[in-house]
Amino acid sequence: MIDGFRFLPEYFSPPAQKALLADVLGLLDDNPLYRGSMPRTGKPLSVRNTNLGPLGWVSDIKGYRYQPTHPVTGKPWTPIPQALLDLWRDVASFPAPPQACLVNWYEADSRLGLHIDADESAKDAPVISVSLGSRALFRLGGLERKSPTSSMRLASGDVVVLGGAARQAYHGVDRIYPDSSTLVPGGGRINLTLRRVTAP
Ligand code: SIN
Ligand code: FE2
Repeated sequence: MIDGFRFLPEYFSPPAQKALLADVLGLLDDNPLYRGSMPRTGKPLSVRNTNLGPLGWVSDIKGYRYQPTHPVTGKPWTPIPQALLDLWRDVASFPAPPQACLVNWYEADSRLGLHIDADESAKDAPVISVSLGSRALFRLGGLERKSPTSSMRLASGDVVVLGGAARQAYHGVDRIYPDSSTLVPGGGRINLTLRRVTAP
């Protein structure tokens, strides 16, 4: 496994998962899920998303970027919940807080192609992800698209840290196992990724 990858299974206990999910669901009214699209082609993304925090990651026909406002409502994103700021403080080993929490909502047939998180200028800050709800088949590769990959299942409450070399590694989600958890309404999966966007 590439250096700097950390897997923290069941970092969040079942009660902590419930509390975090309630926080996130409660914030969706003000930060509605929407379906972004691929740069250039405009092809709809498989996953609906929204963001929390001072900046949010947005993908549309013009490209990928971070912006302070929701592209549909035009309003600033709501702050990142405390439980996620606490997670970052505990595991990021980085002197500044995260600026973006991308909320990805996977349905039964959603997937996320192999990619590198490359739209942040704070390259020495890790990306930290939290899984809630149904299990996912996560694939982690190396620095090149053709590097060998390994796959693992991510379950509700698991945390993954992409730091060090792994921060620049290809990764993606090949499939989810719908209804493998009853936590998320509809049997889906929510992945929360915390990112530092600008160098502090
Ligand atoms: C991502 O790469 O942004 C999300 C990974 C995941 O859903 O586990
Ligand atoms: Fe990613």
